Amino acid sequence: MSKSKNFFQNLIKPFTSSSRRDQNDVDLERIAEQDQKHFSFEALVKATENFHPSQKLGEGGFGSVFKGKLDDGREIAVKRLSQSSTQGKTQFQNEAKLLLRVQHRNVVNLLGYCVHDAEKLLVYEYVVNQSLDKLLFKSDRRDMLDWKRRHDVITGVAKGLLYLHDEAHCSIIHRDIKASNILLDDRWVPKIADFGLARLFPEDQTHVHTHIAGTSGYMAPEYFMHGILSKNSDVFSFGVVVLELVSGQKNSAFNRDPDSPNLLEWAYKLYKKQRSFEVMDPALVSSADPKQIAICVQIGLLCVQSDPQLRPDMDRVVVILSRKPSHLEEPTRPGSGPRYRRHRRGTTSTVTGTSDVSSSRSSGSYTQTASTSGHTSTGPDPRGKRPAKN
Ligand SMILES: Nc1ncnc2c1ncn2[C@@H]1O[C@H](COP(=O)(O)OP(=O)(O)OP(=O)(O)O)[C@@H](O)[C@H]1O
Ligand SMILES: [Mg+2]
Repeated sequence: MSKSKNFFQNLIKPFTSSSRRDQNDVDLERIAEQDQKHFSFEALVKATENFHPSQKLGEGGFGSVFKGKLDDGREIAVKRLSQSSTQGKTQFQNEAKLLLRVQHRNVVNLLGYCVHDAEKLLVYEYVVNQSLDKLLFKSDRRDMLDWKRRHDVITGVAKGLLYLHDEAHCSIIHRDIKASNILLDDRWVPKIADFGLARLFPEDQTHVHTHIAGTSGYMAPEYFMHGILSKNSDVFSFGVVVLELVSGQKNSAFNRDPDSPNLLEWAYKLYKKQRSFEVMDPALVSSADPKQIAICVQIGLLCVQSDPQLRPDMDRVVVILSRKPSHLEEPTRPGSGPRYRRHRRGTTSTVTGTSDVSSSRSSGSYTQTASTSGHTSTGPDPRGKRPAKN
């Protein structure tokens, strides 16, 4: 390029770079539109009646979910992600494409995604019986979940989680296994929802804080206190769900026994007295299989053990559930006991009581940053976010 032309280009640079950026955005959108998994924003506006409040299925820490119907008749659930995600457009698209390849009978099917200006949306299949929490913790709908259905939910979620951890094309730590993220289809097959959000919100600390306040009843103590995320922390959350299914009690709102701070301690106490059957939801009396109840209580307790290394992996859980084991390990205490004190960036955060998450919810200020990444890595992490190796 001649000197004079170069000079001219530099001169007009400030005026052309933003329009070039706009052009890049347009190109990106065009490329994405060609991809069948990319939904246009207009199509989603139409499908959800312009995100009308009557179409809203619920709202979680990542945004709101709306029911919709596509022109081709398919029913969908559109998750409109909150603007707080700092992830760039391209990175979001790349992650979404990776997640589109995740397919399993016990995992909600991600149909596609949409990026439109600052908006990011995920499009899922609509799962007709919605989430487990809406059935299990509502007295008028709980009867729909007899023991066989609950046992099927336990085995299905175990298989879905095993798939995410070990069988999918990339290992996925869910980070947010809980009753509201387990959906039930028309034949009551359980499907794990929100499996990729740990990848889509890698740096979003705000969300983690919201979660600590909101759904901490499921978080493993090492994740809650040290931000250590691993397959084992998912196993802990799965154990909480198992005990909730058997007992019909919500861990974060436990009030069955004034001498037990939470569902896990209560179940452990009864187990130690060989009274596991009393953990069972009274609504299950007529449908329960006592042997299965006893095994599920024990599996739940094995999964919520304080020491992450003692928890079984999902492979083992699936084996225990599918074959009646002749021998099962003895669970140790759930959660961990001592007061916790941690010094970080000049601030001291104290979590009092047992480290079990439902009791630590009530602790005062909390500045610990939990890991939000679903990736497994072993190297040192400059931000102090350290997914542990499994
Ligand atoms: N694919 C779906 N089909 C049917 N209902 C769904 C679907 N996805 C979500 N929902 C409903 O929308 C509600 C809100 O979901 P959302 O994921 O936003 O909140 P959450 O699960 O409570 O919290 P989190 O943000 O931590 O996942 C869920 O409780 C569920 O009942
Ligand atoms: Mg959810």
